[in-house]
Amino acid sequence: MEASLFQSRHEAFITQAESALRRLTPAATARPARLHGAMRYSLEAGGKRLRPVLCLAAAAAFDPGADADHAATALECVHTYSLIHDDLPCMDDSDLRRGRPSCHKAFDEATALLAGDALQPLAFELLAVGYADRPALATALVRELAVTAGSTLLVGGQTEDMGGLAAGASADRLEFILLGKTAAMLSASCAMGALVGGASAEDVERCRRAGRAAGIAFQLVDDLLDLTADAAQLGKPVGADAQNGKFTYAGLHGVDATKRRIEQLTAEAVSHLQSTRGDTAFLVELVRRMAARRT
Ligand code: IPE
Ligand code: IPE
Ligand code: MG
Ligand code: MG
Ligand code: MG
Repeated sequence: MEASLFQSRHEAFITQAESALRRLTPAATARPARLHGAMRYSLEAGGKRLRPVLCLAAAAAFDPGADADHAATALECVHTYSLIHDDLPCMDDSDLRRGRPSCHKAFDEATALLAGDALQPLAFELLAVGYADRPALATALVRELAVTAGSTLLVGGQTEDMGGLAAGASADRLEFILLGKTAAMLSASCAMGALVGGASAEDVERCRRAGRAAGIAFQLVDDLLDLTADAAQLGKPVGADAQNGKFTYAGLHGVDATKRRIEQLTAEAVSHLQSTRGDTAFLVELVRRMAARRT
């Protein structure tokens, strides 16, 4: 896909994702205003909006007229909650997120914890309400996001990540962490978009696999950027993984092997996308750019 066409479609998806987010989540002034203010603070801090964009683009790949706004917003709510909790002192203890003080720094720890708590049911409310006229779709979306955000994937990955290197450096544990804490949400983003777009079960599965491969690559890039980028550019601290004794692919296999694995995973994601019946040209380009990102 031509660079200028990709850029304009990418910007349009981000604009759509952010306007859905503003429209579908409670106002900062809703009671209790401190809680809703904290939710909005973290939701509106920016970020790449990768999960909603993947969802909107996957839906559009199968049905250009599909309305995936609620699914896209639900994904960003779960992602944002995971970042708020990830930054808490009891987890990664990070003061900077999306170029601003982390939620617990801008507010306080209890408010950050509660803002994260509240973002989770909000995600499922959005799915239930947004697709109420298509109960089978609503159920499939709720199931996809619930499994993804649950104890075997997102929370499970975060749990095993917490132990760091000290908890043992097996390849199996590393894959569990990479899939759970990061790839599962990117996988669900692609699968949920495909579901909203009315893709066949086979194509939903191809999208799920594409998102999983691209998602593992995404975390490998995140770990490399923690080693090489600067905080101003990244909008979050660098060198944090070493400081926290984190167990990473780059730490286990070195930078060159990590770059090779990123390339392999990206090629795998592209091939899954290209084997669907959807128009996945934008998604293919996005997945390629994710591997080369600097922020
Ligand atoms: C950060 O995700 C956490 C990881 C899973 C690596 P992003 O890099 O997508 O964060 P934002 O949404 O752009 O801030
Ligand atoms: C992110 O892993 C995983 C989740 C937030 C679920 P990291 O701890 O590496 O993410 P950053 O680097 O703080 O964004
Ligand atoms: Mg973490
Ligand atoms: Mg972190
Ligand atoms: Mg990181």
